[in-house]
Amino acid sequence: MNFQLTEEQILTQKTAREFADNELAPGVVERDEKKIFPKEGIKQMADLGFMGIMVEPKWGGGGMDSISYTIAMEEISRVEASSGVVMSVNNSLVCYLLEKFASDHLKEKYLKPLASGNKLGAFSLSEPQAGSDASNMRTFANKDGDHYYISGTKNWVTNGINSDYVILFAVTEKGIGHKGVSCFLVEKGWDGFETGKAENKLGIRASDTCELYFDNVKIPAKNLIGNEGEGFKIALATLDGGRIGIASQALGIAQASLNASVAYSNERIQFGKPISKNQAIQFKIADMGMEIEAARLLIRQAAWKKDQKQNYGHLASMAKVYASEVAMRASTQCVQIHGGFGYMRESGIERLMRDAKITQIYEGTSEIQRVVIARELLKK
Ligand code: CAA
Repeated sequence: MNFQLTEEQILTQKTAREFADNELAPGVVERDEKKIFPKEGIKQMADLGFMGIMVEPKWGGGGMDSISYTIAMEEISRVEASSGVVMSVNNSLVCYLLEKFASDHLKEKYLKPLASGNKLGAFSLSEPQAGSDASNMRTFANKDGDHYYISGTKNWVTNGINSDYVILFAVTEKGIGHKGVSCFLVEKGWDGFETGKAENKLGIRASDTCELYFDNVKIPAKNLIGNEGEGFKIALATLDGGRIGIASQALGIAQASLNASVAYSNERIQFGKPISKNQAIQFKIADMGMEIEAARLLIRQAAWKKDQKQNYGHLASMAKVYASEVAMRASTQCVQIHGGFGYMRESGIERLMRDAKITQIYEGTSEIQRVVIARELLKK
């Protein structure tokens, strides 16, 4: 077993780290406060090849492995978790899905611009009554000749406003549960397709989340991805990889919490000495460090198994549950170490705690991840 990163992975880490510290860090508190989408940062991430890291170069991507992806995601999210989720959705939910399941026609037309970062994608599965129970969706796609006509409402769509293309799941046959769900690619601007207002969120406020409305939207039948009825399995297979991305986002938040805690506790003087001289602080920092290392190993193991084409879904779920819980614990302790200062908006410290929370919810709640893990462990 070899824990050493390859030269390519080390270079990816260095590039992502320097970019995040130099380019993303300025303005991060203001973007969070005012809900400003990190447009310039995302454009620069596209130039660095971060928007389609794992996609084969012939489809416009970076052709790198999944471990490189987790490393870049961690570094970006360490500085701005909002940029992290924009990147994660485009890479692991949109580009991955298209590369694995779409026709060459769709890859040529949509994957190339998405993987190179010239266009941005969104993944739209959830509906008001279908969150964890995702197959209980009502959005309906009616086939007529060479087109489908789609009507319905989707919600909690990350990148919903700023995206150009949306991966959309809709029912093509009612009454047969998940076997009636199909997957489509829909372009923004098509008649009858409207986006809702940007949601006002607790965290990851610089990324956009909104509802999508479809009113008899006409889409070409060749924009169906896979076959009719395969949509739900395509969604779940894609989410397996997505969960590695979100775990990496959580890890970045946890690492930021540790870094800030170390720096502040070494410089904050109380009772005539740095607060890091107190065991009460040292133990918090030790726990953060230990849990972060464990989360990182779980994430890299899941990424490695994915690349080896081994069964990895339950390992991705383990990585996501654990890393998101570590992010919550580390960011909460980070605020505690910073005391009153950390509670202030302008400190940028309380943002870590707010950003961490969503990692326990989206792309499958911690409870759903435990269902996935237990099902695998209990298999006969
Ligand atoms: N890959 C491929 N197929 C899979 C699969 C996987 N990982 N897991 C299950 N399947 C198959 C099953 O074998 C089954 O097929 P058969 O009927 O042919 O055997 C089919 O898919 C349905 O599986 P289940 O019966 O297990 O389905 P379920 O309704 O019980 O749901 C679930 C399982 C795990 C709860 C699933 O619904 C789930 O993961 N829910 C959470 C949804 C979610 O993660 N939503 C996130 C929204 S996207 C988002 O957050 C993006 C964003 O903007 C950031």
